[in-house]
Amino acid sequence: MSEDKQPVSRRQFLNYTLTGVGGFMAAGLMVSPLRMAIDPVLQESSASGDFTNVKLAVEDITDEPQRVDWEINQVDAWYESKVGKSAWVYKDENGDIVALSPICKHLGCVVSWEGSDDHPNQFYCPCHDGRYYKDGMNVPGTPPTAGLDIYEHKVENGMLFLGTAQPREEA
Ligand code: FES
Repeated sequence: MSEDKQPVSRRQFLNYTLTGVGGFMAAGLMVSPLRMAIDPVLQESSASGDFTNVKLAVEDITDEPQRVDWEINQVDAWYESKVGKSAWVYKDENGDIVALSPICKHLGCVVSWEGSDDHPNQFYCPCHDGRYYKDGMNVPGTPPTAGLDIYEHKVENGMLFLGTAQPREEA
């Protein structure tokens, strides 16, 4: 019985082996950068710009600021996490909904409605005695130099949805 075997030289064997292993490693090295380059484009939109139902019925909003808390899914490249959000919500004298960020414009502490007995009808920041009027504008002479950010909002099926807190336009 004769077999037509082509002998593989040592050189050919090494060439085939090195080409195969090298190609496999190169393909593996390319997967991660390609995924990094393409993946964010294919991701669904992140939480920014979206509106969230904050579980507050519009009929329950009064002229007294009330704090609402909710969570959003934040996607930062490939890291997804839950982020807590808060707002002070009330209806102004025209019945329009106002949703203010509680983040103090001085150094970022959290303000409270009537947080100081000495300053009723104002938002108060305990860190450096920062104060804001009910409309969120900073009280002159206190540390904050700008008004509280204002949340974008919309109403659907009688429920309040809040979006992104926006800085006020420069006066
Ligand atoms: S952080 Fe609010 S007054 Fe300083």
